[in-house]
Amino acid sequence: MRRVLVTGGCGFIGSNFIHLLLAEEPDSAVINLDLLTYAGNPRNLEEIADSPRYRFVHGDIRDPVQAEELVGDADWIVNFAAETHVDRSTKESAGDFIRTNVFGTYVLLDAVRGTNSRARFLQVGTDEVYGDIPLGVYADESALPRPTSPYAASKAGGDEQALSFYRTFGTDVMVSRCTNNYGPYQYPEKVVPLFVTNAMEDEPLPLYDGGTQVRDWLFVEDHCRALLLLLHEGRSGEVYNVGANQQPEVTNAEVTRLILRALGKPESLIRPVEGLRPGHDQRYAVDCQKIRALGWEPTVDLEVGLERTIRWYQEKRDWWEPIKSGEYREYYRRQYGSGEAG
Ligand code: TYD
Repeated sequence: MRRVLVTGGCGFIGSNFIHLLLAEEPDSAVINLDLLTYAGNPRNLEEIADSPRYRFVHGDIRDPVQAEELVGDADWIVNFAAETHVDRSTKESAGDFIRTNVFGTYVLLDAVRGTNSRARFLQVGTDEVYGDIPLGVYADESALPRPTSPYAASKAGGDEQALSFYRTFGTDVMVSRCTNNYGPYQYPEKVVPLFVTNAMEDEPLPLYDGGTQVRDWLFVEDHCRALLLLLHEGRSGEVYNVGANQQPEVTNAEVTRLILRALGKPESLIRPVEGLRPGHDQRYAVDCQKIRALGWEPTVDLEVGLERTIRWYQEKRDWWEPIKSGEYREYYRRQYGSGEAG
């Protein structure tokens, strides 16, 4: 049995990855180490919670004692645990981003080294580390990180920690850098689930800065398949970009209109807002030839993926309605200046 330590497995991408791994790799068993911060939700895994191939450990990647205990037994380690929301990293202190995304990654890596583990360590990263990319340019893995937000800078720091362990100690490390994900279980502070659930409730969709920005939206399951492939076939010490390479590229305004159209809601729900995202990157775009050469390609078109995502949020009101109260409501009021979270 292959033992896979997943960190942050109660979050959006982590939980999708665990579902896929358990479904597709019958010889794998998962330990999910998760701190259950606001974005971690054990309900994301309730269908597999009783599986003999699944174990949940409530804990913190920054705890070296626990890290050593868990890392020592693992064959694969997939590090999803991270603070991820750009707006939180600019509006509030980014200290938690640094503590989790940089220091936490270091603690895990150091536990691998300290236990002489031969585990593969996959650091799950973001294309945001490359910063704003001019039209017509695609950042490949040799591009220097030029992160804009404190969030992106913290992820770049984690990536560099991981790569330094390969270079210094020969730790079996890889870094993936994926474009924007969307799909089931995404916390509704991110633009796709925020706009889907607000539109369902006839609440305004706060579209930032004219909506001209370009993101390369990838359905989360395609991302998770890329990660599985890397764990099997990726080369140690390497960085791999993962993206949809959407052609033509789509702006935030276009994604917003697709969502409204799919839900049969009017464009008058769009509420243009300016200045909520200082340093707002205009465009992200990555060259994905390296992972495509391993045999991966995206399989879910944006319109199909959005329809699947929308259907999921329509069927899972009991998942997101409780989230859109409590801490979320307070966050929403601070960010958008209204207590109404939809
Ligand atoms: P987001 O989902 O926060 O992901 P990221 O910042 O990691 O790319 O934002 C995606 C894009 O959507 C980004 O250009 C900012 C924009 N956006 C809005 O227009 N309105 C919103 O309320 C949010 C959260 C994001």
